[in-house]
Amino acid sequence: MTALTEHKAEVRTLVRDARERGVRVGLVPTMGAMHAGHASLLRAARGENGFVVASLFVNPIQFGPHEDFAKYPRTLEQDLDLCRREGVDLVFAPTPAEMYPAGFATTIHVAGLGEKMCGGVRPGHFDGVCTVVAKLLEIVQPDVAYFGEKDAQQLAIVRRMVRDMDLEVEIRGCPLVREPDGLAMSSRNAYLSPDERRQALTLSSALAEARQAIEAGQRSAAAVATQVRRRLEASEGVRLEYAVAVDPDTLADLTEIKDTVLVAVAARVGKTRLIDNVLLRGLK
Ligand code: PAF
Repeated sequence: MTALTEHKAEVRTLVRDARERGVRVGLVPTMGAMHAGHASLLRAARGENGFVVASLFVNPIQFGPHEDFAKYPRTLEQDLDLCRREGVDLVFAPTPAEMYPAGFATTIHVAGLGEKMCGGVRPGHFDGVCTVVAKLLEIVQPDVAYFGEKDAQQLAIVRRMVRDMDLEVEIRGCPLVREPDGLAMSSRNAYLSPDERRQALTLSSALAEARQAIEAGQRSAAAVATQVRRRLEASEGVRLEYAVAVDPDTLADLTEIKDTVLVAVAARVGKTRLIDNVLLRGLK
């Protein structure tokens, strides 16, 4: 049975009860509008823990003033159905006031990592993410928390925050999930018109070409980033924000690609902002 609560105190009680039974606790933080990518995180958590908590909260402080907070898809009933199907034990769906009572004044800022790539275009975004994730980790106190590799920068920043703040939790990255035609799963895909949906496919195809080039031996990070950038700049309907080839942990630009590389892009298709990436590890 899947329990649902909007109260922090109830989460603490139910997690404490689970711990007394000696089980491991897994947390999947989400903003709802769940898709197959979220389902894969829930499944990973279910496979590794005796008690699985999914949080469902459209976090106002990670949206800029002109971003899509108001129109972000809210699909509570479908999300709860998915959580039930995936065997989630507890859904924590707080109100903004439960998370940010009047007078709330603290933010967590991961310097450097939070300012580049998406952070350059969405100032303050990762402060909002880190602040809510730190709160969720503190409320739930999970053994493991699950994040999608689709948000590769978010994952790197959350890992750094956990390390820097000595938070006692393991952060598990789970592979990006794609639609059959290659488009990275995202709650924001719901905004795309049929034409935009077609144009958006250039993101995944440009990244697939980058992967092929690297697998065929391309070791210049600048050449890979330029190849992706040119392809996207030439694509109808796509406005590129960035294309980079970086270290996935430090997000530092690479010169030579050695063992590991994250090739990441962000672009607007119509009014919708999309991100996508390929992560290659264990390169020879
Ligand atoms: O990836 C997301 O959906 C959000 O950024 C997160 C981690 C749930 C924090 O609000």
